[in-house]
Amino acid sequence: MSERKGGIHAVILACPGSDGEGCRYSVCLKASLHEHHTVMNASTARRSTLIPAAADRPGDDPIFQLNGEATRRAQSGESIVNATLGALMEDDGTLAILPTVVEALRQVPAKRAAAYAPISGDAPYLAAVIEDVYGGTPLAAQCVAAATPGGTGALHHAIALFLEPGQDLLTTDFHWGPYDTLASQARRGVRTVRMFDARGGFDLAAYEAGLSRCLADQGRALVFLNTPCHNPTGYSLDEREWREVARITRAAGAQAPVAFLVDMAYARFGTPELQRWQHHVEPIVETCTVLTAWTASKSLAQYGSRIGALLAASSDPAERERIKNALAYACRGTWSNCNHLGILAAIELLTKPELRAAVETERQRLVALLDERVAVFNRAARAAGLRYPRYEGGFFVSVFAPDAERVAAAMRADGVYVVPMEGAVRVALCSTPAAAVPRLVASLAKALGSQA
Ligand SMILES: Cc1ncc(COP(=O)(O)O)c(C=O)c1O
Repeated sequence: MSERKGGIHAVILACPGSDGEGCRYSVCLKASLHEHHTVMNASTARRSTLIPAAADRPGDDPIFQLNGEATRRAQSGESIVNATLGALMEDDGTLAILPTVVEALRQVPAKRAAAYAPISGDAPYLAAVIEDVYGGTPLAAQCVAAATPGGTGALHHAIALFLEPGQDLLTTDFHWGPYDTLASQARRGVRTVRMFDARGGFDLAAYEAGLSRCLADQGRALVFLNTPCHNPTGYSLDEREWREVARITRAAGAQAPVAFLVDMAYARFGTPELQRWQHHVEPIVETCTVLTAWTASKSLAQYGSRIGALLAASSDPAERERIKNALAYACRGTWSNCNHLGILAAIELLTKPELRAAVETERQRLVALLDERVAVFNRAARAAGLRYPRYEGGFFVSVFAPDAERVAAAMRADGVYVVPMEGAVRVALCSTPAAAVPRLVASLAKALGSQA
């Protein structure tokens, strides 16, 4: 098995205080953070009222620092391409939103929104989310769910309920940095398997070995798989890879407790074929609990409304009941209730056919906006000979770069901002107009070329 816990991920574990997009991308700030920590370790131990684990958290977020620098330079009149931030922006640089969603939020009666939501979320909301993900498949009848603040809350509950303290969740070496933060905050860890094999496909052998090692080491496993449109690489599992992942996971679940979580944060921005992954989880649920982290942050362009849910599918009705109770208990013990305004608006948006259709049409405009950027990127990047994973849609793509920090610094000198990681730079096409993509690719190719 090829595991990678060093590099950027070691940096992330050392700085789990950021709750935004940040820490996994902190390579560029590694040296300064390290110095900062060394000083803090010596002095805070004597005088902090915080417990030691919390006394040494960094307050700075590398992505927001990069974004801040890009914005300052743009405001001072420089021509800047800022491909750092993870929200879908219109070509004019403003946040892309869905008018029907905004209107639905406005229409919620004030006194209903102001009242507490039920601890696990309103029943029609949970039913609507289950239908949204698994409608038309046998899994819908095998699911229980709880409302969470965004997908992040769903990931939190998965970690808290399916791993013992001290155990590790299993995910790919390239992954969303807050997985580390969430695990560390909950006193759990993260172990990784190599994401890409020598041919650039999903490394199934590494996954199989990693899962088997996990079971041998800790007698249970919690897997996080972010597909389609993986953050940060843009990769989506294809049909064959999904089938194999299902076979491997199902076999592991026959040996020990395995919870398999699909993080579908960006799923609505994949091609229509990529959105039909549900049938692959049907065999997995025969032996495992299948969790799904659902969020409206991207699908309804409501990052700030914190509308999300954790779905749990099990073939055993008694286990479903246990999970339902455990979810409710965890909600009460973590945040009590979620944003009722968001939940009530989501019920309307997900269940009223005319609103669903309107949202779908408005979202298609955003998907088309992003797809155009993806197409321009793929054309330019192939012509420039860049090495990057298969990219068919989604907010981000990562381009492999042995010395990512130096590449990103060279690009900044050209006025182009990307996020350096271990072994790659992340390009947020979600915030880059199509017209700016050729310049971005040219700068990237130049920086990579000068590295050789
Ligand atoms: C891979 C991934 N999973 C989950 C999330 C959860 O986001 P939120 O909590 O806003 O729903 C994000 C957000 O950026 C993400 O990139």
